[in-house]
Amino acid sequence: MTSIGIVYYSMYGATYELAQAIADGVEKGGGTAHLRKVPDPLLPDEVKESDGVRESIAAQDEVTTATVDELPEFDGIVFGSPTRFGSATSQLQSFFDQTGPLWANGSLLGKSAGFFTGASTAHGGHESTILTMSTYAFHHGMVIVPVGYAVAGGVQSTRSGGGPYGPTQLGDGEGLTDEEREIAVDYGVHFAQVTEKLAA
Ligand SMILES: Cc1cc2nc3c(=O)[nH]c(=O)nc-3n(C[C@H](O)[C@H](O)[C@H](O)COP(=O)(O)O)c2cc1C
Repeated sequence: MTSIGIVYYSMYGATYELAQAIADGVEKGGGTAHLRKVPDPLLPDEVKESDGVRESIAAQDEVTTATVDELPEFDGIVFGSPTRFGSATSQLQSFFDQTGPLWANGSLLGKSAGFFTGASTAHGGHESTILTMSTYAFHHGMVIVPVGYAVAGGVQSTRSGGGPYGPTQLGDGEGLTDEEREIAVDYGVHFAQVTEKLAA
């Protein structure tokens, strides 16, 4: 059974919701999903205790914290981050930056990679965040698995998040729409199936 890491950062919980939907899809597709939140050591206490963040941190309390050393144990990894100014958060970028030793050893070479994000505005960064995050996979020699249009039917019709580049959510704490969830689950299934072939 393929082992798939879903490594994400989420301040207000929307990216976490997407991560959970992708994990559901991975399990449906025959893989084992490992949810991992990246550490956030620099977040000031007043932000941690502010409305929305406090509840989100509590909701993710049970999620295991990601470690760089664990990444090579996964057959494939899906990375997620909210959009910040059209790109990924410093929290996920900082985690990426710590994987230099894995890059030097080629530890992630040939593994599958995927990316997901969320943004509060329709044209505020869904595509740019995924595309800029994806340079990570190029440098590690990972095989990028996108959503495409064929896998999830909802990509053709969604008026919220979810596109061919990766699962996304649109909004500010309203929760995933049915289409966003469907695309994320279908993507998880697809990611697990492609990873199984790659790992064979
Ligand atoms: C500092 C900051 C920068 C942001 N930049 C963008 C942006 O460029 N475009 C956008 O549409 N939303 C932007 N947002 C909104 C978040 O991307 C959005 O609320 C996201 O869904 C939150 O994900 P989370 O609930 O997992 O933390 C920004 C939010 C913050 C706090």
